[in-house]
Amino acid sequence: LRHFLTVEGLSKALLEEILDTADSFIEVGARSIKKVPLLRGKTVINLFFEPSTRTRTTFELAAQRLSADVLNLNISTSATSKGESLSDMLQNLEAMASDMFVVRHAQSGAPHFIAKSVCPGVAIINAGDGRHAHPTQAMLDMLTIRQHKGRVEGMVVAIVGDILHSRVARSQIRALLTLGAAEVRVIAPQTLLPFEPEALGVSVFHNMQAGLRDADVVIMLRLQKERMEGALLPSESEYFKLYGLDDQKLAYAKPDAIVMHPGPINRGVEIASEVADGPQSVILNQVTNGIAIRMAVMSMAMSGQIASAQNRS
Ligand code: CP
Repeated sequence: LRHFLTVEGLSKALLEEILDTADSFIEVGARSIKKVPLLRGKTVINLFFEPSTRTRTTFELAAQRLSADVLNLNISTSATSKGESLSDMLQNLEAMASDMFVVRHAQSGAPHFIAKSVCPGVAIINAGDGRHAHPTQAMLDMLTIRQHKGRVEGMVVAIVGDILHSRVARSQIRALLTLGAAEVRVIAPQTLLPFEPEALGVSVFHNMQAGLRDADVVIMLRLQKERMEGALLPSESEYFKLYGLDDQKLAYAKPDAIVMHPGPINRGVEIASEVADGPQSVILNQVTNGIAIRMAVMSMAMSGQIASAQNRS
């Protein structure tokens, strides 16, 4: 039994094993996902302390497809409102013979804390923690790139927008570099970049024309206002003019570039409808791939494969 908390430090071989395992759950020539008995008799609890549509739902569908018993704890109606601490709540859930917690939390490091200090006997899967990491999102994005481009290796990938507050960008950058992307670029105003972004291993651009030139993959991010406190930002219309992806700006990338977005999208802010719904968009394919990737991660964590592959690398 092992946890899946971050892609940081995971080997190329392990990331490829996750992608191959996800592929094995996808019916050939169909969008449907196989139902398999890998987690029969196991109990998975979704613990989402922050809102979610895609991640929570695809984790639930993935657990069902693995034949697990799955439940979603409604945090707002739980006994935490009566003063129960997070640790006490989790230890009570563990006492119900839970095998796996899927955790989303506003605090960076919360899933790591639970895994190490609160419930070390339960497999913990990080479904997004603060600004830190969203590892299953990064892996479903790698699967989508591999499906549409044949490989991640050698790709020029541009990530556009609010890098500063984005756990998705941090995990994507790490996964892309591990899998051998030729270049990972970030395109953003200075105010939406972390201090010394080059330390992440990326090239930095403040201009869409230069940053999108010859890109194979364009990943758009939304402005994460829930994580901005008093930030100086341009208006939404000004932001769209400079950094919003419309057909005109997309033409700077390669003609066969794919457009991605982890969602939720804000039309007319970071992306125009003509692009979000256009022929180069693979945004809904990303959502579909979320089920297979989460099946792969949950089954590999439960069987100890993630741990043994890490030891081999
Ligand atoms: N991509 C993503 O994490 O979306 P949700 O917030 O809807 O889960």
